[in-house]
Amino acid sequence: MKFREVLGGREVWPPPLWLMRQAGRYLPEYRATRAKAGDFISLCLNPALAEEVTLQPIRKFGFDAAILFSDILILPMAMGQGLRFAEGEGPRLPPLEDLSLLQPGKAAGVYAPVIETVSRLSASLPKQTGLIGFAGGPATVACYMLDGQGGGFPRTRQLAYERPDFVRVLVDMLAEASIEYLSAQVEAGAHCVMLFESWAGLFPPEQFRELVIRPARRICDGLRALHPGLKMIGFPRLAGLMLGEYARESGVDVVALDSVTGLAEARAACPPGTIFQGNLDPLLLKLGGEALDEAVEALLAQVKGHPHILNLGHGITPDVPEAHVARLVEKVRAAR
Ligand code: CP3
Repeated sequence: MKFREVLGGREVWPPPLWLMRQAGRYLPEYRATRAKAGDFISLCLNPALAEEVTLQPIRKFGFDAAILFSDILILPMAMGQGLRFAEGEGPRLPPLEDLSLLQPGKAAGVYAPVIETVSRLSASLPKQTGLIGFAGGPATVACYMLDGQGGGFPRTRQLAYERPDFVRVLVDMLAEASIEYLSAQVEAGAHCVMLFESWAGLFPPEQFRELVIRPARRICDGLRALHPGLKMIGFPRLAGLMLGEYARESGVDVVALDSVTGLAEARAACPPGTIFQGNLDPLLLKLGGEALDEAVEALLAQVKGHPHILNLGHGITPDVPEAHVARLVEKVRAAR
């Protein structure tokens, strides 16, 4: 299958394609299933419905890989932190004060339905479709746990300077919990795993090394010890000049690029042969038209001759017309 061939380092043409947040609100069938589940967290913890929403974009667009439907905040929730999603406002957690309130030993019991979703998908997905498991990067998950919501994460940023040991211990706890969580996903049938370090770009170099690269390395080493040959995708969003060091030191096999990181610049910064994923600007998928067509052609021209996984540079937004997604898929399939 195309997706797994690229993970193995082979060039495939046209390149495989999937989209971050490909299961989501831009699809009417997703909105209907979420309404059936009641709310977003119930949907994540309902294996039959989570399986259904994972499959929806595969059926409709035939993407080369499916990503488990869940959320990066399910793991901290399973470790005992409160979590709710305020409609239209995003996640809300009670800002974490005391690490001893977390109970990582209980997490597996709470996230069991997510693992069940992976098992179901591994049986129901078309044979040619890849299955991606995931977790949040420890620094990004810590941001939500410490600040309690998105929006700059001022408390996390302050704590990283004033109480570095506290933040480091939290990130290390998350790395260990992520190894167990991702390992369970692999045992249930995930072909590879992705680490979403969406807020990596908040941290200056020393903190980036300590809170982003070091835990990623720990997770990759821990997982490979359990699953030799497992492929890992890392998404160190807005890593800037730290991208090369991330590619060299984190242990991931594929570096997922955001849209402000050019492929030429990424190639210059990373070791020769680094496999990339990305990095179409999600806004183009909303705009459609010539802007989308031209950007897709330019990206295809840049990745020709290299192992590459086509994707967006960040998640698809709810305002994207389905016809634009269909157009993207058609243009990629017709690539020459
Ligand atoms: O299709 C997929 O990509 C798989 C499922 C998935 C979701 N979230 C579903 C989701 C994945 C891999 C994620 C990752 C995730 N979650 C990240 C990392 C990637 C990124 O976008 O930077 C982050 C930071 C989160 C935390 C999160 N979850 C936020 C900030 C929000 C609110 C923003 C929003 O889009 O509403 C969510 C909610 C969320 N996660 C939705 C979905 C489909 C929307 C929930 C809904 O209202 O139905």
